[in-house]
Amino acid sequence: MKPSLPHSRPRTDRRRLRPLLLGVALALACAPVVAASASKDAAAPVRIDPAHWPQPAWPLALDPAMEKRIDALVAAMTLEEKVGQVVQGDIASVTPEDVRRYRLGSILAGGGSDPGGRYNASPAEWLALADAFWEASMDTRGGGKAIPIIWGIDAMHGQSNVVGATLFPHNVGLGATRNPELLREIARITAAETRTTGMEWTFAPTVAVPQDDRWGRAYEGYSEDPALVASYAGVFVEGLQGKVGAADFLDDHHVMTTVKHFLGDGGTDNGKDQGDTTVGEAQLRDIHAAGYVPAIAAGAQSVMASFNSFHGEKMHGHKPLLTDVLKQRMQFGGFVVGDWNGHGQVKGCSNTDCAQTYIAGLDMAMAPDSWKGMYESTLAHAKDGTLPMARLDDAVRRILRAKFRMGLFEKPKPSARALGGRFELLGAPEHRAVARRAVRESVVLLKNHGGVLPLAPKQRVLVAGGGADNMAQQAGGWTLTWQGDGTKRADFPNADTLWDGLKAQVEAAGGKAELAVDGRYQARPDVAVVVFGEEPYAEFQGDLPDLMFKGGKSGDLELIRKLKADGIPVVAVFLSGRPLWMNREINAADAFVAAWLPGSEGAGVADVLLRRPDGGVQYDFHGKLSFSWPRRADQYANNVGQKDYDPQFAYGYGLTYADNGDLAALSEDPGIDPDASRTSVWFDRGVATTGLVLRLTGADGEAMDIVHPNAATTDGSVVMTAVNTEVQEGARQFAFNGPGRLELRANMPLDLVRETNGDVLAIANVRVDALPAGAKVDYLATCGTGCSGELAIGNALAKLPQGQWARLGVPLKCLRDTGADTARLDMPFALRGSAGLRLSLARVSIGTDYDRKIECPTP
Ligand code: BGC
Ligand code: BGC
Repeated sequence: MKPSLPHSRPRTDRRRLRPLLLGVALALACAPVVAASASKDAAAPVRIDPAHWPQPAWPLALDPAMEKRIDALVAAMTLEEKVGQVVQGDIASVTPEDVRRYRLGSILAGGGSDPGGRYNASPAEWLALADAFWEASMDTRGGGKAIPIIWGIDAMHGQSNVVGATLFPHNVGLGATRNPELLREIARITAAETRTTGMEWTFAPTVAVPQDDRWGRAYEGYSEDPALVASYAGVFVEGLQGKVGAADFLDDHHVMTTVKHFLGDGGTDNGKDQGDTTVGEAQLRDIHAAGYVPAIAAGAQSVMASFNSFHGEKMHGHKPLLTDVLKQRMQFGGFVVGDWNGHGQVKGCSNTDCAQTYIAGLDMAMAPDSWKGMYESTLAHAKDGTLPMARLDDAVRRILRAKFRMGLFEKPKPSARALGGRFELLGAPEHRAVARRAVRESVVLLKNHGGVLPLAPKQRVLVAGGGADNMAQQAGGWTLTWQGDGTKRADFPNADTLWDGLKAQVEAAGGKAELAVDGRYQARPDVAVVVFGEEPYAEFQGDLPDLMFKGGKSGDLELIRKLKADGIPVVAVFLSGRPLWMNREINAADAFVAAWLPGSEGAGVADVLLRRPDGGVQYDFHGKLSFSWPRRADQYANNVGQKDYDPQFAYGYGLTYADNGDLAALSEDPGIDPDASRTSVWFDRGVATTGLVLRLTGADGEAMDIVHPNAATTDGSVVMTAVNTEVQEGARQFAFNGPGRLELRANMPLDLVRETNGDVLAIANVRVDALPAGAKVDYLATCGTGCSGELAIGNALAKLPQGQWARLGVPLKCLRDTGADTARLDMPFALRGSAGLRLSLARVSIGTDYDRKIECPTP
């Protein structure tokens, strides 16, 4: 293969482009300035003018008696105690003993953190741990002041971290109910169940307004429509906290809320989680801030800063938005909590050091595993004035105010409070009845050909598909585990799968129900219900390149077609966190129901699918789409109100039993090449592409995800800097001062089986800058725990022209030969180097065009 160096051609292109670009710039400079233009323009600096923003009335005037107590307490607190209040650790990394010593004001349990490290720890263990932390915070024997700790947890769709809790539909489903009063009830119940295990604070509601359905957190949002999100936000806050002014406001039956993630989480470019939001000020305000207005007016006690950037600036360091807009203009009188090491992504910060975030307006840093370093550096910044005392005091006062409002200084330990230990409330029948109603009201009927639904219960009903009897799949992410995976049926004692619900009602009516996940029935059914959909995911792990449904493990489309070929009517029930391009499945089935992620009450689906035994309709469909349903797989950002709006099923669509549910055949052209959408470029111009994350791991094994052009492992063994190629900062140089790794991690495992078989290579566009004699450099790939392949590439690197760009090809076959399962690569590319190695990387992709390739070791 001829060496063709990557930057020779683009360079001439760029020269040719320059006068043109200059012309455009001049034209722009002369054009009239449109204030807060709605156009996407990443290059233009976007000025935030607080005067453009709404002014919800914060409903809690300062209470002079409370302020006096706060004055006295703050005056008596040591600097160490103040810093302790503004740093939050995670229970996986902080102990009650740490709290006793460092006087931390708060702890959290992240999605993957549980008592004893067991995802299915008992409610009693959660409560005992809450007591232990509370006791530590109130222990004054070491001379510290008793300041009750607060425990925050992601009670996202119910107290979904705890075995036995009622699991409500995820927000995408609640959006379809259009029923704010039902949401109030859901919030009230969630608060009560959360209190049974001792926590007084939830990281909910999410008021994101997802604009791109590829975003892995789309299901955490109620709707693409800001007005609908706003109609829920205030009542949900009231349901969780109680109503301001009422006797039960923030009492022991309620929890503090966190409205999140401020701001622009649902508006990132390409729907990339934690990405950059580059809309104008007006869109940021009118779309993404819509939920905050009613939530603040309802007295939400906290707001969480978002991982995303606004025009390149991370929200955790964004003073104009956090302070000038949120706290001043919008009069938010609670405190701002950070997201999971979100401060570490601010320019110039690390997970353990970030005065800037507090200066920008953050009041409490979420420093899960980094709390000790964060505590120490913040203490140092407070001592030397880098962090002004007035700002620290303000942060402490805001946190204390929330604690006083909750009456925590007068409260006994969590188990001795009104609902502490009342575990019979977890999954209580009256709670489950509300969740079941929410399921009934959230499912959306897209097609009902020939009125196949509702089904008579007294017949033979086959229930098939991978989602039919699958609690994890119907509950989605943030359920017992962060990703919602790795659980088993026994972890859900108070829950019905869709199969459970259908079977009970069919049998009660004298019909026969059969479960056959693969569709291979024993007795020929009169009708089949096929339940299938997305596997659970959370956050960036759910980001997609397009809206192709990659299909469950069961070959769902084939299953539907096969049953149809047998002459059996098929009702398709689709479990998903977002609308996906489903035209083939919709065409193939007689009826199609979007059931979202319904949670613990599969019976709610049976309620609408099945008739009453006397033949009448039990419950009609009620759900209306709160996200537009795509016509093609590339229609991921087609939202109601846009001028080129052209969905398959519009916002607000949803059939009832009174409607004619026939549907002419839909186009089966996805509008994209489904194979092209498979990720073939993993790293480009020095950045990980959508769906992948660049991570550096130091000699000490500490890993960090990289978002900035310059970074280093905490132990300094790998230092990354931006270097130029034909484009400015088009590559990254990695200097190894000790053993370490640079890794590209895929959010969703990549299936490269066909590529492996087709002699495709992983190609690194690399420049060797320094390679000590005999240096060991390895390429590694992993495929889940205990699965990996690796190859020595030091010799091949030595043969490349040093100091020049070249494309080094690594046949995927060699990785397979050394043990990698290329059907599920979760880390398709990593380089392990040792001290003295220096190399630059511009791009990593898969293909067949290279300058030099590695020979597979002979087995
Ligand atoms: C935690 C989650 C958190 C995530 C951040 C996980 O390890 O358990 O709660 O959201 O990391 O990306
Ligand atoms: C998520 C938040 C969550 C937090 C704590 C973060 O990674 O973005 O939504 O509240 O972790 O688990």
